[in-house]
Amino acid sequence: MVVLVTGANGQLGQAIQSVVGNFPSIDFVFCSSSELNITDKNNCETIFKKHKPQFCINAAAYTAVDKAETESEKAYAINVTGAQNLAAVCKAHNTVLLHVSTDFVFDGLATQPYSEEDVPNPTGVYGVTKLQGEQAIQNTWEKHFIIRTSWVYSQFANNFMKTMLRLASERDSISVVSDQIGTPTNAVDLAECLLAIISTQHPTPKTQHLYGIYNLSNEGQCSWYDFAKEIFKVNNISINLQAIPTSAYPTPAKRPAYSVLDKSKIKSVFGVEVKDWKESLIKVK
Ligand SMILES: NC(=O)c1ccc[n+]([C@@H]2O[C@H](COP(=O)([O-])OP(=O)(O)OC[C@H]3O[C@@H](n4cnc5c(N)ncnc54)[C@H](OP(=O)(O)O)[C@@H]3O)[C@@H](O)[C@H]2O)c1
Repeated sequence: MVVLVTGANGQLGQAIQSVVGNFPSIDFVFCSSSELNITDKNNCETIFKKHKPQFCINAAAYTAVDKAETESEKAYAINVTGAQNLAAVCKAHNTVLLHVSTDFVFDGLATQPYSEEDVPNPTGVYGVTKLQGEQAIQNTWEKHFIIRTSWVYSQFANNFMKTMLRLASERDSISVVSDQIGTPTNAVDLAECLLAIISTQHPTPKTQHLYGIYNLSNEGQCSWYDFAKEIFKVNNISINLQAIPTSAYPTPAKRPAYSVLDKSKIKSVFGVEVKDWKESLIKVK
């Protein structure tokens, strides 16, 4: 079985590379953005013709949430046109597409975890393009799994955890917003979940007709402040950490105040075991 991974040098791409040893029956093809530019359909065609993957994990994305407000064309090209190109090429090669999306498709006005059926209403360009990317896939190729995740962190690439650790080495005090609630997701847990889903689909799908959208984050919920506090705790870092409201930390893109995802569907369909976010954070220490 051949699994092609786009965006191989990003956070999720590297997390997938870190767990390949657990999936010896899979032949992985990892493509960085320079080997496979998903905005270039001919490039996608050439790579698919060469490797003939049964599955494609799209770990490529434009993820600069604030910059997207002024780089909307670039965000659209990668998150929408790129997703559409992959869906079209997957269709031509009968390849199952696993695409990763985000909690930022929601406006954050909910008071209980978002299910896959809740109506998205993104508040910024990044969320809009990620939602349009989902829709482009849905309209192009039936054999897809869209996995919405949130607050992804790991030892790889840039993420909140690494920013906190860097700031702690540079400053005596840090202020973090405490009125945005969500759930951190260890990128390695996400990587293992994507590959576990693939394992249920090969050589013949154990779950029929179950393509569609699934939520996956770690279990539990917290604010960014709580997340930072726990990061410092597990790393034995003593620092003056201040909780501040979002109004005291204005950003170009508005973020959802609440974006906890309901994982019941992925747990019941695929039997995925979802770890508590604090338990998963300890592993990255
Ligand atoms: N990070 C989070 O907190 C978070 C939260 C929710 C959902 N997600 C979703 O999770 C997925 C993975 O995110 P991540 O954290 O791994 O992102 P990331 O670290 O920013 O990685 C994205 C990767 O995409 C590559 N890329 C950009 N443009 C490309 C193109 N035209 N063709 C091919 N590759 C391209 C980048 O390569 P270059 O560096 O070479 O440009 C980079 O390696 C994304 O779909 C994201 O929307 C992330």
